[in-house]
Amino acid sequence: MRRAKITIIGAGNVGATTAHWCAAAELGDIVLLDVPQTGSMPEGKALDLAQSAPIAGFDCRITGTTRYEDTADSDVVVVTAGVPRKPGMSRDDLLSTNARIVTIVAQNVKRDSPAATVLVVSNPLDAMAQRMLQVTGFPPQRVMGQAGVLDTARFRAFLAAELGVSVEDVSAMLLGGHGDTMVPLARCAAVGGIPVTQLLSRSQLNRIIERTRQGGAEIVGLLKTGSAYYAPAAATAQMVEAIVRDKKRLVPCAAYCDREYGVGGYYVGVPVVLGAGGVERIVEVELDAQERAAFDHSVAAVKSLVEAMARLTG
Ligand code: NAI
Ligand code: 2OP
Repeated sequence: MRRAKITIIGAGNVGATTAHWCAAAELGDIVLLDVPQTGSMPEGKALDLAQSAPIAGFDCRITGTTRYEDTADSDVVVVTAGVPRKPGMSRDDLLSTNARIVTIVAQNVKRDSPAATVLVVSNPLDAMAQRMLQVTGFPPQRVMGQAGVLDTARFRAFLAAELGVSVEDVSAMLLGGHGDTMVPLARCAAVGGIPVTQLLSRSQLNRIIERTRQGGAEIVGLLKTGSAYYAPAAATAQMVEAIVRDKKRLVPCAAYCDREYGVGGYYVGVPVVLGAGGVERIVEVELDAQERAAFDHSVAAVKSLVEAMARLTG
């Protein structure tokens, strides 16, 4: 049986770490691609990773390259190409540079892997997923963005720490764009099936929700050079696994919503069923008035970013 071919575009922090998680889980053969200006860096990272295989015990092929022909006919393409933010920058400040980069990447993916499912990670996430869809013209089910798995992981980690319980027992859901307007849904978070609203006070929950919203900025502030990559890469690998193993995971994902949630043709974080067909289903949950207002506010932020991108890219 042919192993899945997983291409990761951008062999920087998130890309290389995603390759690591994907290899360790034996999700498929991995191609790590970066721009020619990086010389043999992708090859070096791939070789280093491949040499960890006898110790870690995985059997996939890992190659590094700067040539798109080596990525031909990939089943899954993960796009981490672009610049990360620096302290004081928002994800939105990356718009013009990363829109240009994602446009080039999308043209190459369309030509060399026309049947691929594409998982965008580059920021600003929701706008970059939209750009990928526009340029590839792929069906929306096959183009999605990673953000919600990361943002709910942060939410879950903070809840587990506050309650002194295992992260394994904490589940959560979150809606909206991957930015300060994201909407962690306290009502849908639970520990071992018990709603967290019964376990934590409103002020404790508000503090955790705010920390989740600022989760990316907190890491940027600590690192000083670049942004988070361990948790983002783990989140991305979990989505790759859902696709290549057809797991039908119900996870938050930046998906193209048209009539769903009344969004009108934009990428935004919503619960989806993720499997071999990509975004196989968008799950619509009933929102109360406050959640709806917060979601609409977040969607409005995504729309204005997409409009700004349209002015930049023509
Ligand atoms: P990085 O700077 O470590 O790596 C980015 C890589 O992309 C570099 O190696 C660079 O040479 C490469 N690159 C640039 N232009 C390219 C092109 N045209 N084709 C192929 N490769 C190209 O940055 P890092 O930390 O890996 O972050 C990557 C992106 O992911 C950033 O935009 C960052 O904001 C975003 N991000 C998104 C997250 C999410 O949850 N959606 C989480 C973490 C990061
Ligand atoms: C994060 O949330 C930078 O989007 C990235 O860490």
